[in-house]
Amino acid sequence: MNLFFLCIFFYFVGIIFCKPNVLLIVIDDLRPNLGAYGYKSAVTPNLDSLASKSFVFSKTFCQQALCAPSRNSLLTSRRPDTLHLYDFYNYWRESVGNFTTLPQHFKQNGYYTQSIGKIFHPGISSNFSDDMPYSWSGAPFHPKTQEYMNSKVCFNNDGTLGKNVLCPVRVMDQPGGTLPDIESLNYALNFLENEKNITGGLPYFLAVGFHKPHLPLKFPEEYLEQHPIWKVVLPSNRWRSYSLPNVAWNPWTDIRDREDVMKLNVSFPFGQIPDYFLKKIIQHYDAAVTYIDDLIGRILKKIEGTNTIIVITSDHGWSAGEHGEFSKYSNFDISTRVPLIIHVPGLSTHGIVVEQITELVDLFPTLVDLTNISPPIPICNRKNTNIGLCTEGRSLVYMMVKSKQKKMPIRNMPSAFSQYPRPGDYPTKFPNSDKPRMKNIKIMGYSIRTERHRYTEWVEFNRTSCKPNWLKKFGTELYDHSIDPGENMNLIDRKELVNVAKDLRKQLILGWRYMQN
Ligand SMILES: *[C@@H]1O[C@H](CO)[C@@H](O)[C@H](O)[C@H]1NC(C)=O
Ligand SMILES: *[C@@H]1O[C@H](CO)[C@@H](O)[C@H](O)[C@H]1NC(C)=O
Ligand SMILES: *[C@@H]1O[C@H](CO)[C@@H](O)[C@H](O)[C@H]1NC(C)=O
Ligand SMILES: *[C@@H]1O[C@H](CO)[C@@H](O)[C@H](O)[C@H]1NC(C)=O
Repeated sequence: MNLFFLCIFFYFVGIIFCKPNVLLIVIDDLRPNLGAYGYKSAVTPNLDSLASKSFVFSKTFCQQALCAPSRNSLLTSRRPDTLHLYDFYNYWRESVGNFTTLPQHFKQNGYYTQSIGKIFHPGISSNFSDDMPYSWSGAPFHPKTQEYMNSKVCFNNDGTLGKNVLCPVRVMDQPGGTLPDIESLNYALNFLENEKNITGGLPYFLAVGFHKPHLPLKFPEEYLEQHPIWKVVLPSNRWRSYSLPNVAWNPWTDIRDREDVMKLNVSFPFGQIPDYFLKKIIQHYDAAVTYIDDLIGRILKKIEGTNTIIVITSDHGWSAGEHGEFSKYSNFDISTRVPLIIHVPGLSTHGIVVEQITELVDLFPTLVDLTNISPPIPICNRKNTNIGLCTEGRSLVYMMVKSKQKKMPIRNMPSAFSQYPRPGDYPTKFPNSDKPRMKNIKIMGYSIRTERHRYTEWVEFNRTSCKPNWLKKFGTELYDHSIDPGENMNLIDRKELVNVAKDLRKQLILGWRYMQN
């Protein structure tokens, strides 16, 4: 019996003898455009193959569709209203409390923790250090060529270079002769190659954050060959719905600000990207995903057969024309829904789809339970939100291991909670409605997603207390997923649904705690 099977044996008898490694891969701005999630245009053989021996969570939602708030929420298992972070500009340890992070908890429990690429959002929100020294054992690695993110390195049709959305490149022609995610891949492969030397024999918690398919859609041009333009399917709901309140609209300024889109003269804030260009955006997004799938395949090959829990996820979704919108910055499913694939050696020998609603705040307590590195993380207390180690999510292990089903909290109705801030009730460039800074936030859109519905209320927000005023409303949305999975028909004015809306509103105001036992 080799060590690997011995470990699995011990797992089942409840004693962790040798702790599994953890590999957490976070793919920036990835909506579930993967074969494993039923997306027909996907070319993602490596992730699909992993999914075929993993738990595939089909309805996982982020807590806010913006990088820094979502990542800090995932990594601390606390929600934006607890972290007081809705933009990029505060660091929880200094603004709210000395909360323990997911990697920090592993580090404190005998793991060697390493960050590669974008795990924390860089800058103020992780104290310009990726939360060093607390979260990581080794110095976090950032690819040098990410500094060209906003440079004119993309080819225009006339041979000039531009700062574009569409950016297929010849890698050898790029500054440094490489791309950020290739640098991160090489660093990860080197880490795995020299693992024992680097960790000193400890199990590892390795977090690899890939930058694509975040804008610009910059990737080696050969990946376009697997995505011919004639195969691209345009979303059927690529128009703004007349029933959508203005406050809900995100004007996708990040796309407009790039030179190839600027040339299209699309009017602000509601103008449409023409279909031929939308097709290209979808094509390039999917090609960027194939590129990342390829890189991930190389990591998976390297650790094949080892005792490693593998998690694949993203910080939020991305609209590619749905609702006439782009990017994240909203409360729609298309912006809040993320892929979540969890491979547990010995536990998921074939693909298991978990259809219950889950949230990114659930990942921290889930990984603690899967590895048994400490007692389960307690649920954060309403009165004492300042304790260092607690969760505002719940462990999902009861969805994965039958014998644990009785022990785990059960929500009377599984739901996900997301939120998004706005500077005003009409979309503006200044302040930017997509990413308002804290000092400009006046409205918060709170959203609850149940199996059947999404209910969103945009209400006045007090940025000193970080609390909503439920009495002052700027817009309300109600969608019924049983007839409208694209969230195109806002049903809030339907008289026959008054009681449904009332009940959802009650749950939304009570919040996530109500859903816990
Ligand atoms: C925050 O927590 C870390 C790790 O538990 C500890 O080393 C540090 O002293 C704490 N800082 C404060 C200000 O309490
Ligand atoms: C954040 O970084 C600053 C500057 O390096 C440092 O002085 C401060 O102690 C850090 N904050 C925490 C909580 O570690
Ligand atoms: C590990 O480190 C030792 C001592 O520095 C060195 O001799 C050895 O070659 C290293 N092994 C690998 C695989 O890098
Ligand atoms: C956009 O506007 C500019 C200046 O008004 C004009 O020269 C150009 O032809 C327009 N482009 C398109 C695609 O309409």
